[in-house]
Amino acid sequence: MIREAQEPDLEEIFNLIHTSFANKAESDLVRQLILDKDLLINLIFESSDTILGNVVVSKVTMEPDIGLFCGGVAPLSVLPEHQSHGIGSKLIKAAIKNSEKMKMDALFLLGDPNYYERFGFNVSNLKSDYMAEHFQELELTKDCLVNVESEVIYANAFLSLK
Ligand SMILES: CC(C)(COP(=O)(O)OP(=O)(O)OC[C@H]1O[C@@H](n2cnc3c(N)ncnc32)[C@H](O)[C@@H]1OP(=O)(O)O)[C@@H](O)C(=O)NCCC(=O)NCCS
Repeated sequence: MIREAQEPDLEEIFNLIHTSFANKAESDLVRQLILDKDLLINLIFESSDTILGNVVVSKVTMEPDIGLFCGGVAPLSVLPEHQSHGIGSKLIKAAIKNSEKMKMDALFLLGDPNYYERFGFNVSNLKSDYMAEHFQELELTKDCLVNVESEVIYANAFLSLK
């Protein structure tokens, strides 16, 4: 079952992210996004009271601002022993649906295009701090990113990941 994360879930989520990435940087990132109030969506996949997966969407801005409401999907984490069973896909689809409900115009993410193209993401031509071939976009408002020349800016917490 997928649901919004609540305060009592947070320590379990941080442990899950740490385990999935085998690295503390991504769980520290989510802690900081929460402290900075830059989180838009925090979803968990739960089975028998255990959290098996998590996806986070945080605020993204554009410089110059052209009035679009956008989010950055990161990180996506599934416990190693539960990977390749469709949990990551379910979480991404739910994150997209929730973003649409919140009337976001577009989502961005960094990741392997081979994985994310199945959800409609395309490699983005927009400027960002990230490697061009892994930086992807999904328009939720049709054509909202066409001819955009602004730079995509992630929340401050991402600065420590660079
Ligand atoms: C990436 C991740 C979230 C996918 O979750 P999942 O529940 O295993 O994914 P699903 O079961 O929905 O999809 C499995 C598919 O994704 C592919 N896949 C898994 N991880 C991948 C990755 N890092 N890059 C590309 N493809 C990947 C699998 O090969 C499989 O492909 P197939 O459907 O063609 O067989 C999970 O593997 C994970 O937590 N990895 C460690 C953390 C991480 O790298 N997060 C993503 C950062 S962008």
